[in-house]
Amino acid sequence: MTYGFETLAIHAGQAPDKRTGAVIPPIFQTSTYQQDGVGKPREGYEYSRSSNPTRDALQDCLAAVEGGRRALAFASGLAAEDTLLRALCAPGDHVVIPDDAYGGTYRLFSKVAERWGISWTAADVTDIDAIRAAITPHTRLVWLETPTNPLLNIADISTIATLTHEREALLVVDNTFASPYLQQPLSLGADVVVHSTTKYVGGHSDVVGGALVFADAEIAREVEFHQNAMGAINGPFDAWLTLRGIKTLGVRMDRHCDNAERIVDFLTSHAKVSQVYYPGLVEHPGHEVAAKQMRRFGGMVSFRVVGGESAAIKICERTKLFVLAESLGGVESLIEHPGRMTHASAAGSPLEVPADLVRLSVGIESVDDLVGDLSAAMS
Ligand SMILES: Cc1ncc(COP(=O)(O)O)c(C=O)c1O
Repeated sequence: MTYGFETLAIHAGQAPDKRTGAVIPPIFQTSTYQQDGVGKPREGYEYSRSSNPTRDALQDCLAAVEGGRRALAFASGLAAEDTLLRALCAPGDHVVIPDDAYGGTYRLFSKVAERWGISWTAADVTDIDAIRAAITPHTRLVWLETPTNPLLNIADISTIATLTHEREALLVVDNTFASPYLQQPLSLGADVVVHSTTKYVGGHSDVVGGALVFADAEIAREVEFHQNAMGAINGPFDAWLTLRGIKTLGVRMDRHCDNAERIVDFLTSHAKVSQVYYPGLVEHPGHEVAAKQMRRFGGMVSFRVVGGESAAIKICERTKLFVLAESLGGVESLIEHPGRMTHASAAGSPLEVPADLVRLSVGIESVDDLVGDLSAAMS
């Protein structure tokens, strides 16, 4: 029997507790487990870095909602990325990364992985020829974000999956911006999905976490070995909070999308806005591909402001409901200046973002209040 997304989000990995019938999986806040004899751990649990029942529940749920064979939960999105990189790549390998990506992902490749002998090329993910040209005989991974952070570019996952596999590399897709409710990269041919579960998956800005979801059980086993060997695991309470967030992911995402569409209507007709980036706009260059591979277009909106950097910063500092903060994907609306905040680490690189850019994470508040707040800040 196959269940729908919301049913899986609420039930997968979360059967009532065998001993007590507790409907919600308990927080197994324990580092170790009594063994039934020497070398005889009960149900495989021996130490919580290796495995923990609350983290298992989260991992099973994540695998189900992404349509994967296996999921692994980490201390943060970047811990997940680092573990994946070190599990699958060796010195001499090459990785293709987006030329518009989360600044921390770029920093991981350019400032950390490079020191360990992994080279990289940044390519425009909207340009198949650019990706083809960037792949070398040493390319082990092609890494996509779609939509990208913060310019909301769209990559055609299934076309790039075919190209990547022809060149015997693996396709990794960071699905943080879309969430598994709006987009399921594994069903489009990706090999690994990355999440910062800190964002929409957790959904309440109260927990930092990351996840990897795999199409292939063998690759999952290799990375699981590294998860234990390197140790950047998701703790039991964090796993529990994230699981609670996933239960409402579908309803939250629909409301994020409704509100974002209204904000986009407001921004596109505003005299102080020179450009709006939202894949739901028919004039967005990635609109057709986004409509093909996404259920809806998400809750992230970026725009450029007439008057340059100082005007953009002023708007960020004047909103009252939109909180000036990094991160995204929570129920509350956030505003930020990527050039000075989330993407400051990309300054001077091919991933530098425009100075007049403002990024919104549109929350699920009453949308008239959100439009009123932006309108006042821009007046
Ligand atoms: C698209 C994307 N991927 C990965 C990350 C890294 O996740 P974390 O902050 O949980 O380490 C972020 C963080 O903002 C992100 O936006």
